[in-house]
Amino acid sequence: MEKFIIEGGRKLEGTVSISGAKNAAVALIPAAILADDGICVLENLPNIEDVKVIINIVRQLGGKVEILGNDTVSIDSNNITSYKATYNDVKKMRASYYLLGALLGKFNHVEGIYPGGCNIGDRPIDQHIKGFQALGAKVSIEHGIIKVHADRLVGNSIYLDVVSVGATINIMLAACRAEGQTTIENAAKEPHVVDVANFLNSMGANIRGAGTDVIRIKGVKSLKGCTYSTIPDQIEAGTFMIAALATRGDITISNVIPTHLESISAKLAEMGADIDEGLDTIRVRCDRRPCAINLKTLPYPGFPTDLQQPMTAVLSAADGRSIVTESMYEGRFKHVDELKRMGANIKVEGRAAIIDGVNKLTGAQVTATDLRAGAALIIAGLMAVGNTEILEIGHIDRGYEAIEDKFNSIGANMRRIRI
Ligand code: EPZ
Repeated sequence: MEKFIIEGGRKLEGTVSISGAKNAAVALIPAAILADDGICVLENLPNIEDVKVIINIVRQLGGKVEILGNDTVSIDSNNITSYKATYNDVKKMRASYYLLGALLGKFNHVEGIYPGGCNIGDRPIDQHIKGFQALGAKVSIEHGIIKVHADRLVGNSIYLDVVSVGATINIMLAACRAEGQTTIENAAKEPHVVDVANFLNSMGANIRGAGTDVIRIKGVKSLKGCTYSTIPDQIEAGTFMIAALATRGDITISNVIPTHLESISAKLAEMGADIDEGLDTIRVRCDRRPCAINLKTLPYPGFPTDLQQPMTAVLSAADGRSIVTESMYEGRFKHVDELKRMGANIKVEGRAAIIDGVNKLTGAQVTATDLRAGAALIIAGLMAVGNTEILEIGHIDRGYEAIEDKFNSIGANMRRIRI
């Protein structure tokens, strides 16, 4: 077990480089299973726990995965014979559901464990199942195991009842070798959806419209290995942008795609930050107390739900009352109780958090309840008076690479202690 100890009140200044996107990487690695011949080389992967878990699952299926460097792996899926993703690792993370689409697309058959994931609220997969069934698959769930089988996968039109990142990507994975055309309507438009479509097209798939709400997939006979580089992590970048406001700092974030961060830049500017965009950098400065704002999480290009928790932290000491509405997950306010231990004045009513900014937070011992709640507590610890101890930091390591090194490189005093 480990904990973080953060000395609060230090201004963060300097440049920090962003790693590859977690929510792209955990889909790209399963997608590589679809290659019929040749080897996939994935670059700019983040060195995080979720990537290690998904690599382990691919190995357990018979895939040959070689680590070629800190952020590059090669995946040879020619020896994958098993379509049963039923190992304990599968329960560790929700993104293991991508194995359903990848193995179904490869073998017309898959047996997988009902996915786990952060406890941020209900995490259904009914839209994933709806997509598989539309392609001609039969789906059964017995004893926590999902069994999906299709004699043939045949393209179809699928309208998603809710905008779902996971379902959009999973249907692309299952459909890229189906017979005929598949249309996904009301598709998710997140950058990582586009990244997976671009990777599959590099393998020889025929996917058009990713990044819009209508994606058209023409099934192809086979897919081949290729080399592909993961996009930068929009949520990691946003976390460091928020840290600049939290510490009255001046942070340049490099290796980013500024267009992916437009909603975050807009809200931080509304709070009083100066934002300067470069080709692959964003500089965020804020030398005064941030203003309160209202915020609602929405599918991309709206404000991302994954940054709602870090934003709640920085707004807890903003000037005025903020209302944060979490439209995606009803359980994504577990960090609020921990922030209250640090002196925050927040009232949660249903999907809304009403935040009356206090002059200062004070350091305390707090516990990370999920990945982005952990990020919120880091933000709070950076801005609090005194030291903050964060327990259960394993949640944070799932999605942030070497986070204490990155924060310390721009002036933080953050230590990882074994307990
Ligand atoms: C992905 O989760 C991300 N995870 C989440 O990031 C992110 O919060 C979420 O997208 C929204 O952007 C990964 O990419 C691995 P959804 P996912 O399907 O795919 C409902 C993080 O911190 N829904 O887009 O599970 C669902 O309940 C994680 O990095 C259904 O009703 O999200 C939610 O309200 C946390 N039926 C909404 O849709 C379904 O079949 C969006 O969910 C699927 C989803």
